[in-house]
Amino acid sequence: MLGVCYYPEHWPEKQWQQDAQEMRELGLKYVRIGEFAWSKIEPKAGKYDFAWLDKAIATLAAEGLQVVMCTPTATPPKWLIDQYPDILPVDINTGVTRGFGSRRHYDFSSPNYFTQAMRISKVLAKRYGNHPSICGWQTDNEIACHDTTHSGSLAAKHAFQLWCQQQYGSINTLNQAWGNIFWSMEYQDFSQIELPILAVTETNPAHQLAYRRFSSDQVVHFHDEMIKIIRQYAPNRFVTHNFIPLVDTQTDNFALAKNLDFVSYDNYPLGRSDMFFKHMPAEQYKPYMRTGHPDFSSYSFDQSRGVSQGNFWVMEQQPGPVNWAHHNPRPEKGMVRLWSWQAFAHGADCVCYFRWRQVPFAQEQMHAGIKRNDNSKAAAWHEVSQMRDELTQVQLPLEQPVQAKVAIVTGAHSQWVTEIERQGDSYNHQRVEFAYYSALRQLGVAVDFISVDHDLSLYQLIVAPCLPVVSAEFVAKCQQATAHLVFGPRSGAKTPELSLVDNLGPGLLQQLIPIKVLSTETIRPDCSEVMTYQTQQFSSQCWREEIELGAGVTTVAQYHDLLPAVARYNNTSYIASLTCDEFLISYFSSLCAEQGINTITLPKDVRLVQRGQYAFVFNYAGKANSIPATLSGEFVLGSATLAPYDVAIIKLP
Ligand code: GLA
Repeated sequence: MLGVCYYPEHWPEKQWQQDAQEMRELGLKYVRIGEFAWSKIEPKAGKYDFAWLDKAIATLAAEGLQVVMCTPTATPPKWLIDQYPDILPVDINTGVTRGFGSRRHYDFSSPNYFTQAMRISKVLAKRYGNHPSICGWQTDNEIACHDTTHSGSLAAKHAFQLWCQQQYGSINTLNQAWGNIFWSMEYQDFSQIELPILAVTETNPAHQLAYRRFSSDQVVHFHDEMIKIIRQYAPNRFVTHNFIPLVDTQTDNFALAKNLDFVSYDNYPLGRSDMFFKHMPAEQYKPYMRTGHPDFSSYSFDQSRGVSQGNFWVMEQQPGPVNWAHHNPRPEKGMVRLWSWQAFAHGADCVCYFRWRQVPFAQEQMHAGIKRNDNSKAAAWHEVSQMRDELTQVQLPLEQPVQAKVAIVTGAHSQWVTEIERQGDSYNHQRVEFAYYSALRQLGVAVDFISVDHDLSLYQLIVAPCLPVVSAEFVAKCQQATAHLVFGPRSGAKTPELSLVDNLGPGLLQQLIPIKVLSTETIRPDCSEVMTYQTQQFSSQCWREEIELGAGVTTVAQYHDLLPAVARYNNTSYIASLTCDEFLISYFSSLCAEQGINTITLPKDVRLVQRGQYAFVFNYAGKANSIPATLSGEFVLGSATLAPYDVAIIKLP
């Protein structure tokens, strides 16, 4: 199923009918509207104009299109800001109020905004909740984007003080938990608690972690309340939210998604790759400049499926150059189709393109659409129409899920801990997790992303690239698991209040593997050292721990000075250092073989994923590639030779 993001308020009414007709002809089924239209829906406080919106919905519906309606809360209008200036958030890096004139200019802790956002959501849900052409709702828009989870406002400070009181009960408990005796940071009363921002130097990591948890809770509370309102007035309609890459939010995505029907994801592989891989040398990056890294889109698709606890939608798919990255190249011809098929292969039920037509005015005028602003057909049009045709040919195995035997354990708390306690420049949580994921994907295995609460019995290999805080419950589940467990450096090293564990790292994980982390060092990325595994040389880099092995623990790999770098005890491995990708590929390959997980040797830049009985193969390379002969079956799309940027789908016997 395909869809599109449309802004009727940007175009003359006389244009709408032709737009709707062309959308139908292009095979689109869903149209998302309304997420930034508050000033047109309510031009003055309490004065609503629904005539245009009624007409826009009717025009789309007349062509058989289904509408996904949004709450317009990402863009509070000027009159509302003037009425309640405390809606505006405060920048935590400068202490300056963030102004009106773009979007997401609201503070999750503003009681006035909470009331107003729920009011407008209720007004819309009441009016359109039972509309036969509205099939579902999107809450807000990219709720944590543009660094808006945190605010340094007075309202945030008061709400944080209350949150601390609820969490800790007494101020002495809080002082003790955070270690406030250090540097005389003790508080006598909750009303004295500051936000951990704008201090002379580093603030207490425990204080920072509490503030991150609080800020995330504020977003989740706001969002949950909105979902409740929609559900009350819009029965039997789905409720979703369009997430930004899950590693880029400062909000706990598992918590945010909990009350949604499914997760949606906004996929901008080129813009995001440009930002994510800015450290990558040009000669490595250039081949992916117009395709995105072969594992980058699927990294987010697999995370979306994990957070969704099932299938997901792509609510916005990049159709051409965007306007907001450091550099904004066009996709190679074929990539819009490839990304769309890849989304379906990794568990998407629907792909919507952003946007229908390039807009000639305001901030995003340089952002491509399916159509150009003169209404001619842009490059993406032809690829979307190819998708339409292919989707009618190929029976998508929608009811058949991606079945992964390998899981990566992920979660916001781990990310927060490593971002707060950086120990230098060498550790980047996102890159560490991505490296582990990419190594597994290069072996052709499907990967689920799970939280620590997930059922571990479904997997044969469970990898935690970074899990600094572990609970006794999690360790108990690991003890029951039949999977091989792999923990990356830093695992188990911290208490929930971001202190060192009493028994040295990996803390409670010593119940799974009796080792102790004696010391930790971080080193420059360009000063990597040799690490030996099975007589081959790899590299140890950036983060390196010295470990002491207990009885029965074996050394899997050694540092250049012959100390253990990777240790193993029964079905648990501990990797004490960050390593090169080649080591991860090699080690995971042998663990997969041991666990009976099939791997495959794929040509460079070719990726494979299986959904149900179907194997999907993607060629990210600018040259033709052959599909390995071991992948035999009936080709329902493409053939054994993949052209550059091409896709094949094989029905396996
Ligand atoms: C985001 C937003 C859209 C638009 C696009 C542009 O994903 O949700 O409103 O700004 O980016 O790429």
